[in-house]
Amino acid sequence: MSANYEDRDTLFNFVVKEGNGVKGLIDSGISCVPQPFVQPLSERIATPNGQTCEAVQPIDISQLDGPCHTEVAKQIVEAAETLGFFQVVNHGVSVELLELLKMSAHEFFEQPPENKAVYLKEVSPSKLVKYGTSFVPEKEKAIEWKDYVSMLYTNDDEALQHWPLQCREVALDFLKSSMAMVKRIVEVLVEDVGVILEEERMNSLMGTKMVNMNYYPTCPSPELTIGVGRHSDMGMLTVLLQDGIGGLYVKVDNGDWLEIPPLNGALVINVGDTLQILSNGKYKSAEHRVRTTNIGSRVSVPIFTAPNPSEKIGPLPEVVERDGVARYKEVLFQDYMNNFFSQPHDGKKSLDFARAD
Ligand code: OGA
Ligand code: NI
Repeated sequence: MSANYEDRDTLFNFVVKEGNGVKGLIDSGISCVPQPFVQPLSERIATPNGQTCEAVQPIDISQLDGPCHTEVAKQIVEAAETLGFFQVVNHGVSVELLELLKMSAHEFFEQPPENKAVYLKEVSPSKLVKYGTSFVPEKEKAIEWKDYVSMLYTNDDEALQHWPLQCREVALDFLKSSMAMVKRIVEVLVEDVGVILEEERMNSLMGTKMVNMNYYPTCPSPELTIGVGRHSDMGMLTVLLQDGIGGLYVKVDNGDWLEIPPLNGALVINVGDTLQILSNGKYKSAEHRVRTTNIGSRVSVPIFTAPNPSEKIGPLPEVVERDGVARYKEVLFQDYMNNFFSQPHDGKKSLDFARAD
């Protein structure tokens, strides 16, 4: 007899508390979406939805230190000021590694649930590793159709010791081979607001690094659910590897949603709240979301970079002087983070925590 997944508590225990995940739910043979996953109408994504903007060409990031520096830097600055999203190629991460990352994400989530459940936050053997479903399922009106594992970076030894076996090596390789690019992009962006960050300050602003693996199981009724609800990322920059399934959307100024199309070999870069705050609003932390599909399971692998928890963040003084106004107040990043993780995804509401009164 199959369990009664229409009972919210039964479902919640099975999926979230026992760590079977959405993947476990699908594997149990359900053919329709249980009520707790059904989004309010305002959050649903009609499919097909949004335009795919073919005109947005990926940026060849290797040209940043060549004769075309000025032109490439300008492309990056413009993208960060408008959409807050862009794609890069020639980023220093090998195509083989990108393939291995997607494979190991599948490998991790396709394990039996008990192997993943050991990493549920209440019982995880390491504070660096957390496995779960949805963002803050306890507080959400509807649960997101997504399982994830997140791996916090402290140092190589701890990563290789504590991160899950299936992904530790590739995830660490990914982090290390993309970090130079991320720092270079941040440098370009702050240079454009007339600031040269000392190395120490740069390292503090980028001191928190986390690699996630997201798994969006195939969904019997994609029009009722969402993979990830509307949100912005809290940190400096996010690097994201997505597979070929698609479904990542960014909100544009007029309120429409634009798909960031899968592009083989490319990486997606997006601006987070911290960079919006530091730049006093010049750079846009992009509001984005992910739709679900019934064509197959989607994986993505984001790297989040953010300040050290002890770092104070606020608009850079040089920018405030030029703008004549500080649009954000100074906050302790730990406080910003606590606020961010305490509330369900709700667009760019996270930024209100730092908004100047
Ligand atoms: C995230 C996110 C997008 C994706 O994990 O914050 O926005 O494509 N992911 O999985
Ligand atoms: Ni995100």
